[in-house]
Amino acid sequence: MILERENMINIKQVERELGLYSDQEEIHDISKLVAYYQLCHSAVGEFGTKLENLDDDYRVRHNHNPIHHIEVRMKDVGSLIEKLSRKNLPIKFQSIKDNIYDVGGIRVVTNYIDDVYTVEENLLAQSDVKLLRRKDYIKSPKKSGYRSLHLVLTVPVFQSDGVQVTPVEIQIRTVGMDMWASLEHKLRYKTAEPEVKVAEYSESLQGYADEINGIEHNLQEIFHNL
Ligand code: GTP
Ligand code: MG
Repeated sequence: MILERENMINIKQVERELGLYSDQEEIHDISKLVAYYQLCHSAVGEFGTKLENLDDDYRVRHNHNPIHHIEVRMKDVGSLIEKLSRKNLPIKFQSIKDNIYDVGGIRVVTNYIDDVYTVEENLLAQSDVKLLRRKDYIKSPKKSGYRSLHLVLTVPVFQSDGVQVTPVEIQIRTVGMDMWASLEHKLRYKTAEPEVKVAEYSESLQGYADEINGIEHNLQEIFHNL
């Protein structure tokens, strides 16, 4: 067995080592960001456990499990800065805390379309989970054809000096929606001029998303009938 201890940044050490090179305000901002990252990482862990528990429960006590698989990720610093500048926000810790809800992200991939809403219901039924934001791109797909249910949920994280209610973005979508989004994303970043190039194929891509959606509705109907 391999015991892996993830390398975490220690704030006291950063403050000591950066103290020689940066001004107090910058060091403070970096320290706060590191602490917030750790908090979001813990919140992702809390939701990860909740989802694993649901997955186990469905496998043991039910005939059908809505969950196909679960992915977790922390937003890397590069995308964090890119997102701040795209939203014309100052590159400061406070703008991250106030505006960016997907520092910690979880994707739940479900088997059928109805399963998306079952997973949402199961999470919202938990007394420590609160809904902060909800965007249903399944009922109203994006122009690109993108479909997914985006939730920003909060969960209490218990720390050494108290509790911090922390947001995590949870994207819930079917295997078909996930397949489309994953390939479309790769196509978009395949060329140097993604916007222009991908635009030439946008109608086809949107059409394929609709086709996949049609197929998933048909498969769900078979599942209901069986
Ligand atoms: P933010 O505050 O920037 O998160 O805005 P937002 O939450 O309104 O953004 P949005 O709801 O569009 O969600 C952004 C995320 O959804 C992206 O990081 C992608 O994972 C996914 N996404 C949104 N649109 C598309 C799309 O057209 N194609 C693909 N492949 N993914 C998309
Ligand atoms: Mg988002």
